[in-house]
Amino acid sequence: MRDLTLLPKAELHVHLEGAMRVETVRELAERVGAPIPSGLVDGRWGFAGFDDFISQYTAMCALLGTIEDFRRIAYEFCEDEARTGVRYAEVVFSPSNHAPRLGDDWFGPIEAVLDGLEAGRRDFGVIARLAPDLVRDAGLELAERSLEVALKFGGRGVVALSAAGSERSGIAPFGPLFRRAKDSGLRSVPHAGEWAGPRNVWETLEHYLPDRIGHGVRAVDDPALVEHLAGTGIPLEISPVSNVATGVYGSLAEHPFRVLRDAGVTVTLNSDDPPMFGAWLTDVYRSARDTWSFDDADLAEIARSGVRASFADDEIKAEILAGIEAWLTEPSTA
Ligand code: ADE
Ligand code: ZN
Repeated sequence: MRDLTLLPKAELHVHLEGAMRVETVRELAERVGAPIPSGLVDGRWGFAGFDDFISQYTAMCALLGTIEDFRRIAYEFCEDEARTGVRYAEVVFSPSNHAPRLGDDWFGPIEAVLDGLEAGRRDFGVIARLAPDLVRDAGLELAERSLEVALKFGGRGVVALSAAGSERSGIAPFGPLFRRAKDSGLRSVPHAGEWAGPRNVWETLEHYLPDRIGHGVRAVDDPALVEHLAGTGIPLEISPVSNVATGVYGSLAEHPFRVLRDAGVTVTLNSDDPPMFGAWLTDVYRSARDTWSFDDADLAEIARSGVRASFADDEIKAEILAGIEAWLTEPSTA
């Protein structure tokens, strides 16, 4: 069994705000005299289901009060991703969770994030690109502003448009925004089928023309959809530990990662909101190994899928793929 931290990994689904260190959350709360979110108790997060997770997430976002905070969390993110063996990350960031609180400043936060990521690349070697999201529950007007942010930084650190938040809001009304993003050269990576059922994924396929799907696990409930995903090769950004922490599945043993993989769907492993779910990417790979008895060759293949499904430049992909081969061919210690 090889050391999974040393396996070079691409992470395709991780939220910048959701990756905030617990100590940073505490410090930011102390600075403004705000209570820490109620889900964070004795240094560990816990949630009473998916809606509670989203409320806790929103409360945590509200602690980001200055532009410097954004630079800081982006820099710390790179350090933490490097520590877990991530070489390349595509990172969801939510402009609409911040601008209304910060004097309607839509561009300051993302500029600071890009600055922090650049400093993080220099100091820790992690390359990170952004996927700003539309938080659909916040409505169409804020979604349009978020799209403007994504378009303004397209090719300057932004590679894709995401959609996150609750899957309860309508899908179709946001379709034209995804079309504009794609027409402008951005990729489409919406959350879908995280807890809402297969219809949510079908509608997302129709209206958002996704290049990948965030989560998508509930597709497993519709064999025709599984067949469609396997046939088209649209990758799923799967985060099993997240899905158990938010109550979508009762345990990892019940999670459909292996079923989807065996059905020929392109699956990747991701952390989503690592400190909130108590698992950075190496921990996620380790729990997949423990749950589904994957061997090193399986884990290397899953890591390759992440690299191939990324929007990284060819040289970056080739370098990480070579690192995966080196990991797999070097003698195992156990
Ligand atoms: N925002 C942060 N994490 C999320 C998730 N897993 N689903 C939807 N919105 C999110
Ligand atoms: Zn997510």
